[in-house]
Amino acid sequence: MPSRLTFKFSPLTAPGKGVLIVFCGDGLTFGAATARVIAPARDQIRQAAAAERFTGKNGAALELAVPAGLKVDRLIVLGLGKSGSHAQKEVLKFGGIALGKLPAGASAATILAELPTRAMRGEEAADLALGAQLRAYEFDRYRTKRKEDEPERPPRRDLTIAVADVAGARRAYAERAALAEGVTLARDLVNEPPNVLYPEEFARRAQRLRKLGVAVEVLDVPALKRLGMNALLGVGQGSAHPSRVVVMRWNGGRKGDAPVAFIGKGVCFDTGGISIKPSAGMEDMKGDMAGAACVTGLMHALAARRARVNAVGVIGLVENMPDGKAQRPGDIVTSMSGQTIEIVNTDAEGRLVLGDVIWYAAKRFKPKFMVDLATLTGAIIVALGHEYAGMFANNDQLAERLSKAGEATGELVWRMPLAKEYDKLIDSRFADMKNTGGSRSAGAITAAHFIKRFVDDKMPWAHLDIAGTGFDSRQTDVNRSWGSGWGVRLLDRLVKDYYER
Ligand code: BES
Ligand code: MN
Ligand code: ZN
Repeated sequence: MPSRLTFKFSPLTAPGKGVLIVFCGDGLTFGAATARVIAPARDQIRQAAAAERFTGKNGAALELAVPAGLKVDRLIVLGLGKSGSHAQKEVLKFGGIALGKLPAGASAATILAELPTRAMRGEEAADLALGAQLRAYEFDRYRTKRKEDEPERPPRRDLTIAVADVAGARRAYAERAALAEGVTLARDLVNEPPNVLYPEEFARRAQRLRKLGVAVEVLDVPALKRLGMNALLGVGQGSAHPSRVVVMRWNGGRKGDAPVAFIGKGVCFDTGGISIKPSAGMEDMKGDMAGAACVTGLMHALAARRARVNAVGVIGLVENMPDGKAQRPGDIVTSMSGQTIEIVNTDAEGRLVLGDVIWYAAKRFKPKFMVDLATLTGAIIVALGHEYAGMFANNDQLAERLSKAGEATGELVWRMPLAKEYDKLIDSRFADMKNTGGSRSAGAITAAHFIKRFVDDKMPWAHLDIAGTGFDSRQTDVNRSWGSGWGVRLLDRLVKDYYER
């Protein structure tokens, strides 16, 4: 059953109970306050370290039950290794590792936020807390019993982060708590089953952002028809669940300042439609709305931390089903842009949704730039696996900034090419374009070119293909969830570093 994590920051002193987690450098070196706290168990630690060949290498851990002379049940020493520099993503990682080392039954734990060479700054202690928070996430809403081999867990786990600058840590954590909520929201949306989270339900959840001060509009099918979003509507027409487009606006910036815009693919379930997918693994296609989930989580984070930026998030929500009313291969639809599209494969549906939504967002909001996120192609997984998302951009500065934000957060992007030779592959005999390149070659690139045809060349734009990172991705020290919430931290960072006033 769920166990809730609660946090508190306290001064750097010895705790009286639970699990104690401390950091050490290479060669078993401790910070001054830490050395004082663990002094009574010093010999025991040395002996255990020798027996386990633990030297404090980065990421290694030494565990001691009932450490002599300390009032705690267990001591965990985490190695930070040699590195003197502790980049933010490293500190985040250590928060995750620390939480991961807690025994399942532990109800109280204290982390001494001190480096071997100096006290941790408030910001660093707050990053530890964020890392632990992200790692602690579990989607257990539908689990009613404990598995046989699963240890019983306390309903609540209290994590104390002991730090020299308590006030600074609290202040710095406020912002990170907003980010943790955004990531949690994105993960929840991706993990929810498709019978629960269909377009209308997704739209209802997005409307909850109103209580943070986000203006949320939901466009229903008649509204989408009036706008001429026939490419998007064609995808959803075979489903019993009507399509929706949700517009979220956060105005924390200067009045009249052009917003930054984020666009998400929200295919709540992708069967492939008439070009139906094989049944093995099809359940994963509940995650085909990870782009929309990221945009929603990001808007939550920006509003909750009252980011000083004008931002819009626009998501296209549909379900792609085979049905008597479903779209056929061979159909030709007229998109909102006026361009016609020959549908040659109904499973290439995400680009149809994005084409209309991105066109709409550009015309209505005239943003500074647009970033779209989509679990768009299996081909990007073949190319990049689950480590990097594919990035396509028509603007070097935007691409550069996204790469930097990726390095800083560990949500990595790798730039892929756009070129007219690829664009040609989606020319159609019967319409302005067709919705696939017609072969397996360069599948992620032809998909990006399709979207590009709905973007003005002068508008800075980046497309992130997150098929490999949005769900079932690399398990990291700060993510053990199927739905990763990938992109929320990346884009929050992009906004924070380059677009806040
Ligand atoms: N949602 C899928 C892409 C996908 C596949 C995401 C696996 C995550 C994991 C997308 O709608 C799709 O079906 N793409 C096709 C395109 C093809 C028909 C041109 C694909 O990648 O096979
Ligand atoms: Mn598909
Ligand atoms: Zn899809």
